[in-house]
Amino acid sequence: MAENKILIIDFGSQYTQLIARRVRELGVLSMVVSLEDFPNYPDRDQLLGVILSGGPDSVYDSKHHVKDILELNIPVLGICYGMHILVKSLGGRVSKSDIREYGKAGVDIDATSVLFKGVKKPHINVWMSHGDSVTDVPAGMKVIAHNDSTPVVAFELVTRIFGLQFHPEVTHTDQGRKIISNFLFQVCGAKKSWTIKRIEQDLINDIRNTVGDKKVILGLSGGVDSSVSAVLIHRAIGPQLKCVFVDTGLLRLNEKEDVENLFVKNLNIKVDFVNARRKFFDALANQDDPERKRKIVGRCFVEVFQHHIRKNANYDFLAQGTIYPDVIESAVNSKSKTIKSHHNVGGLPKDLKFKLLEPLRILFKDEVRRLGTSMGIPRSIIQRHPFPGPGLGVRILGEVNRKNASILQKADHVFIDELVKSGQYDMVSQAFCVLLPVKSVGVMGDKRTYENVICVRSVNTIDFMTAKISKFKFEFLEKVANRIVNEVDGVNRVAYDITSKPPATIEWE
Ligand code: XMP
Repeated sequence: MAENKILIIDFGSQYTQLIARRVRELGVLSMVVSLEDFPNYPDRDQLLGVILSGGPDSVYDSKHHVKDILELNIPVLGICYGMHILVKSLGGRVSKSDIREYGKAGVDIDATSVLFKGVKKPHINVWMSHGDSVTDVPAGMKVIAHNDSTPVVAFELVTRIFGLQFHPEVTHTDQGRKIISNFLFQVCGAKKSWTIKRIEQDLINDIRNTVGDKKVILGLSGGVDSSVSAVLIHRAIGPQLKCVFVDTGLLRLNEKEDVENLFVKNLNIKVDFVNARRKFFDALANQDDPERKRKIVGRCFVEVFQHHIRKNANYDFLAQGTIYPDVIESAVNSKSKTIKSHHNVGGLPKDLKFKLLEPLRILFKDEVRRLGTSMGIPRSIIQRHPFPGPGLGVRILGEVNRKNASILQKADHVFIDELVKSGQYDMVSQAFCVLLPVKSVGVMGDKRTYENVICVRSVNTIDFMTAKISKFKFEFLEKVANRIVNEVDGVNRVAYDITSKPPATIEWE
């Protein structure tokens, strides 16, 4: 898929990945690199165009320049800081503005510019986020949008180089999609080729070419990324793939059975089930510090997984469900490849000579989901809420033991079941129960009870950095509470957590 590609240069904007996703949604492959990595980017001569992202710097304080990008003689679109860097590299000037614009702003556009082709209104609302503005326009540059605060809101140079002071990738910009689409199809001459069927076929071919007749082992967690990886690799190489599923005892109710039904019985994929419950519960005994519990779960997972794959040393590749945001983030943050959570292997011992296979490493999460759906993976897996690596270990406050895990699994199952049945599961971002280490008095029948408290938590969020509580109807919460108390032995009281993040976090530990 080297041809027909747009490269996005990341200058540190919070919207860089959004630009990449917008381009892909329009059917064109886009990849993200930092300016530093650009000189080593392969296939540079096959790029259709470049988009320069926004960024937090001021161009007059920075040493960035994009002369080598301009020398490629292909279309370039600079957004916000990316526009400033273009202006500077082309001999114009950017200065601190007296009036800063953050948020919505109205701008007048020149509808004759190819960038605004098909944008019906001469005045549109856009999303701005800048304190600097273009003050001197380089020779030959035509101003194609302006407003009262910012004389140069957009420019065009020889219908190949464009700058936008606003963010077309953000949904608050009217016709932002149209503007990006004009750049891709009218200016760069791109073709719609980034479709799920094409992605699937290309990834399958890549896996076949890489793996040949060798064998692949994959850690299957039941989450979206490892499940889609497993199905994709299985389509490519069939029985040369084997999965390993570690039952930590801290998973959701029936997780092992669900994995067995789908992967083994329906899809005929080989899975080794490793029952490591005892190891996890033994290691967690008498531990109540959240970070300590996280470390213990992580360490146990790595030990169990490594022990198992050591027994499979005749496997050549270790597959992981790494996705593109992990790749971009680790490249930008540390310049080194980091392995993310407890679901992954956390570094391999030197004597194990596996090669890594990461078939989803160029896909965004929404693409992974669409790929999974197109390969027939059930919705219950594809649309699953995130589940933390330490699992129920951080949802049982205080000491974790088999009895508590079993109570929590059952209560959580009831809540999720009610969410699904009432059609609300997809409307919330993450929902689960927490077991509190306190007992309260209740009355059931004519008997006094003295049992555990379950707290129900559900949030709505875009990025999991901030979150608002899900505003369910009281009747719904009442039904969930009734069912939990009636169906789960050991619980006589249910509370609903009404704290946003911040100040609380989504998990309780
Ligand atoms: P918090 O609780 O920090 O959670 O607001 C934000 C998101 O991260 C998940 N989370 C974790 N995921 N290992 C993981 O793999 C962890 O230790 C962990 N702690 C929190 C949490 O479920 C939510 O989606």
